[in-house]
Amino acid sequence: MDRKKFLKLGTFAFAGIQGHSLLTTAEMPLVVATWESGLKVNSAAWKWLETGGRALDAVEAGARFIEDTIDCCVGLGGFPDRDGIVTLDACIMDENANCGAVAGLEQIKHPISVARKIMETTPHVLLVGQGAQQFALENGFSKEKPELSGDAASAYKKWLKKSKYEPVINIENKKQNGPFAPHFFEDGSLNHDTMGLLAIDLKGNLSGAVTTSGMAFKLHGRAGDSPIIGAGLFVDNEYGAATSSGMGEEVIRICGTHLVVEFLRQGLSPEMACKKAVERIVKRDPKKAKELQVGFLAINKQGVHGAFAIQPGFVYAVHNSKENKLFRAPSYF
Ligand code: GLY
Repeated sequence: MDRKKFLKLGTFAFAGIQGHSLLTTAEMPLVVATWESGLKVNSAAWKWLETGGRALDAVEAGARFIEDTIDCCVGLGGFPDRDGIVTLDACIMDENANCGAVAGLEQIKHPISVARKIMETTPHVLLVGQGAQQFALENGFSKEKPELSGDAASAYKKWLKKSKYEPVINIENKKQNGPFAPHFFEDGSLNHDTMGLLAIDLKGNLSGAVTTSGMAFKLHGRAGDSPIIGAGLFVDNEYGAATSSGMGEEVIRICGTHLVVEFLRQGLSPEMACKKAVERIVKRDPKKAKELQVGFLAINKQGVHGAFAIQPGFVYAVHNSKENKLFRAPSYF
């Protein structure tokens, strides 16, 4: 890249938020997480990384932190499905391609730790619904009643009034208010934002974790990309790792995070790899793409980070030894 172009990229920076990953220095350890709440999630993960801990422990700690928080989009405070039931999806993957996942898990506070338990103690990768809950209960997790966050409860109430009992599939971004605003439905209620985090530890090993209550008011039984390895999360310890947020169905269709990591393998930067995956989604149905949001976030083996989204508004947090800071992802539109 010539100097002129590089300087032009610098103009993306605003209000202390970096707009382009090429301006960052590669560094380890490192943890990155989706959305503004990623700042707090990163801090929880950093406690492991700064003392030489394993990336896998760091990403689990970060995911557990947000699952402990009353949040509209993750954990037992998250959006319910159309029947009013909160069902949780999560997955985790380590540096040896070990992975575990749960989908449609009810009344268990830490789906990420159930996913890790599946990874470490069973021959399986994914447990769903009642079977996942049974496994959790048999392994020391206890049942807890969902406690909807204020945002989730009021959005569900509004939705019930005019939903016709159909899950909402379009995401309206035009109502965003400021650079960190989450996505809103047409009636002004909030849509989900998945928590995905990726870490590289002092040994240079990578891991990732994803946790979410999934698409608001989904059909009961619907699983998005978050519990699907290669869709919501993929880690390849030789080249890098990626996670996604947004409309899970679109990510599943292109095996999104696996695709991003394959682009890393081909030598693309994390941001370019995410951009190419976004373009794959847009190309399939450009008209539909105007109405939905998907964001990819990636790190490579050198600890360089980057992201790209279909719509503006996707932000992510980066914690290295110097700072914990938000970045705005560039977007297709
Ligand atoms: N990306 C999360 C979901 O679609 O459920």
